[in-house]
Amino acid sequence: MACLFDSHAHEPLEEPLEDGAVILRAFALPYAQSLLSGVHQIAEAAPFRHLVTPGGYTMSVAMTNCGRVGWVSDRRGYRYDPSDPDTNLAWPAMPPAFVNLAKQSAAKAGFEAYDPDACLINRYAAGAKLGLHQDKDENDQWAPIVSVSLGLPATFLWGGRKRADPVRRIRLEHGDVVVWGGPARFVYHGVSPLKAGEHEITGDARINLTFRKVF
Ligand code: SIN
Ligand code: FE2
Repeated sequence: MACLFDSHAHEPLEEPLEDGAVILRAFALPYAQSLLSGVHQIAEAAPFRHLVTPGGYTMSVAMTNCGRVGWVSDRRGYRYDPSDPDTNLAWPAMPPAFVNLAKQSAAKAGFEAYDPDACLINRYAAGAKLGLHQDKDENDQWAPIVSVSLGLPATFLWGGRKRADPVRRIRLEHGDVVVWGGPARFVYHGVSPLKAGEHEITGDARINLTFRKVF
């Protein structure tokens, strides 16, 4: 019988999305403060910026990176770059708290020995969105994407392997982690325009970390 005072009552919930993909509800919650102070430090060295797509469209999400390489876009295309094109400096190193959470999340989802090269940091203000896309600029086509949500809630779009496949709308809250890899690695996903709000830690923003194994 379930007991109200069960020690497992606050254990994070695992919500399978499909083969190779799972939502780990509240899994990052204990690390949220430390992750956000890491983001703050990274943004001092490599400021958030609005990248331009190869098509000439300025993205509504502001981005920066940490790790051995960072994801960037400009009129020439998308790529992973070992240095920040805005400063010509190497991207800030991935803080240990980032690496630990990424490894633990991947392992929880069944992906052992995860060793991400890159962490893209997305900052959403009210109205910012990310259209349906696949993450396919990485050489490793099996290792998972580990996506950590912090701050304001968002509606995550989870589609299929084809752009036209039906899309599920999933609410992601502060501390939720989504992991997708293996058979789910190339699923189309995106984020609906962020609703304005106020979060006690991040204010008027949502911050998302996505870890990637590039090489
Ligand atoms: C991404 O697809 O790179 C980010 C997803 C998110 O912000 O939840
Ligand atoms: Fe993505």
